Amino acid sequence: MSDSMAPPPLGGEPAPPGRDDELLRLVAHLQRAREAERAAIARQLHDELGGLFTAAKLDATRLRMRLQSGQPAPSSAKKQQPGDDADVLYRDAADRLSHLIEMLNAGVQFKRRLVEVLMPSSLTHLGLVPALERLIEMQREEPSLEVDHALSNVELAPAARLTAYRAAEEGLANVRRHARAAHVHVDLRVDGGHAVLEVADDGLGFDPEGPSSGGYGLLAMRVRVQADGGRMAIISRPGQGTRLSVWLPLAEAPASGFSAGAD
Ligand SMILES: Nc1ncnc2c1ncn2[C@@H]1O[C@H](COP(=O)(O)OP(=O)(O)OP(=O)(O)O)[C@@H](O)[C@H]1O
Ligand SMILES: [Mg+2]
Repeated sequence: MSDSMAPPPLGGEPAPPGRDDELLRLVAHLQRAREAERAAIARQLHDELGGLFTAAKLDATRLRMRLQSGQPAPSSAKKQQPGDDADVLYRDAADRLSHLIEMLNAGVQFKRRLVEVLMPSSLTHLGLVPALERLIEMQREEPSLEVDHALSNVELAPAARLTAYRAAEEGLANVRRHARAAHVHVDLRVDGGHAVLEVADDGLGFDPEGPSSGGYGLLAMRVRVQADGGRMAIISRPGQGTRLSVWLPLAEAPASGFSAGAD
């Protein structure tokens, strides 16, 4: 390797000015691209797979009705062989069709859940508060964790709304994965021209200044929030629970950055 190809020494020259900004912009861009991809996949799943399931269910249901009434569909009508027990055959086929319809229904449910995880439709159709309520409802599947909330309506631009939702998602996922908490509170309110979203638990806590755990959820969220003109803070100490707070500029406010001192 020639000298010109040698890697810079560790802890060597400082990064050229603007490099951090560029990296932050790149990360924010990648996050936006990821959301766009998720939205496109969710749309296709909903439209294409949803259409296929609906058509298949309709056919299966029609066929079952014909079989149950003892009338084979004209296209599948066959001359009965002597000794055929048509009743038994029809009942057996109707049972199999019922099972097929059950499986199709399970497929529809699975597709719905997948679409919701990829891109919460409630967020687009109903707004942030109902989407957060639904997200919180899903946490209740874990009986050992008590979740409560105080959610006020806030006016946010669509990108910031999705960021707030993703922040709640990440915060709650972290509580489930790391906190061993008994209780978590989700709060959404307006404070000084910003929407404030908080996820606060009473679990194990951690040292936010400590060595990296290798996870990127919080770091990625911080960059994303900054890209939307907001800021994020984590207050935690071992044994004292964790509070994740995100401030995002309200839709009316200029999204030009977080004003100093508003905390
Ligand atoms: N609510 C919490 N309670 C206790 N520890 C937490 C909590 N939130 C985060 N942590 C700690 O901070 C670390 C970093 O969290 P972060 O979300 O960035 O990464 P991760 O959850 O480990 O991985 P991922 O990239 O999948 O999010 C975690 O590994 C955990 O040690
Ligand atoms: Mg995480």
